[in-house]
Amino acid sequence: MCRKAARILSAQVVLKPGSVLGLATGSTPLGVYKWLAEWCAAGDVDFSEAVSINLDEYVGLAPDNPQSYRYYMDDNFFRHVNIKPENTHLPNGLASGKAEECARYDAVIRAHNGIDMQLLGIGHNGHIGFNEPGAVFEMDTHCAPLTESTISANSRFFSDESDVPRFAYTMGIRTIMRARYIVLIVSGAGKAQILKDAFTGPVTPQVPASVLQLHGDVILAGDEEALSLLV
Ligand code: PGA
Repeated sequence: MCRKAARILSAQVVLKPGSVLGLATGSTPLGVYKWLAEWCAAGDVDFSEAVSINLDEYVGLAPDNPQSYRYYMDDNFFRHVNIKPENTHLPNGLASGKAEECARYDAVIRAHNGIDMQLLGIGHNGHIGFNEPGAVFEMDTHCAPLTESTISANSRFFSDESDVPRFAYTMGIRTIMRARYIVLIVSGAGKAQILKDAFTGPVTPQVPASVLQLHGDVILAGDEEALSLLV
């Protein structure tokens, strides 16, 4: 699954070296970043002109906090490939003004003429980025509260559940839907039901990922367990 998604991302960069990649964190994409790093080291894919714009970042975490998404991206991807540090973008968890930070991030996306290919995971509750159930579809980058289920799912990365930030900056559904291509990666039996709901159920803000049914170019890369209720 990760190899497939990594192939699709590398094809994007090979065909358009200056691609703007929308990147994601979480457990699922780790394998994607490993493959890309391996192929970059072998000289098969070159990120020197690529730009990355991540989906989200926790509010309140510094870039050098190991739980921040900036840290995750540096640690798992950026420092293993030849992408220029100045071409890597995430919301700033420590920004003083939330509205200003959201506006800044949207301006970064606009200045790069939008996202060519967006990598996405899906939460057990159907969230994409931190667009949780009930999120309004027509939103750009905003500061969103985490639901209890996401706080509890993400607490595995923190020493205590009370340490999980309660808010995050996230691209909105509208931002995500403007990406030219979307690659959704999903693994494990635990995601099978939500994947089925997202792609065969109604398009509803209660299942944020269901909006992807309205996008013209979504590639779903899943393992057998995750896809088990779809096929
Ligand atoms: P996971 O997160 O890859 O760690 O399961 C996916 C998500 O919550 O978007």
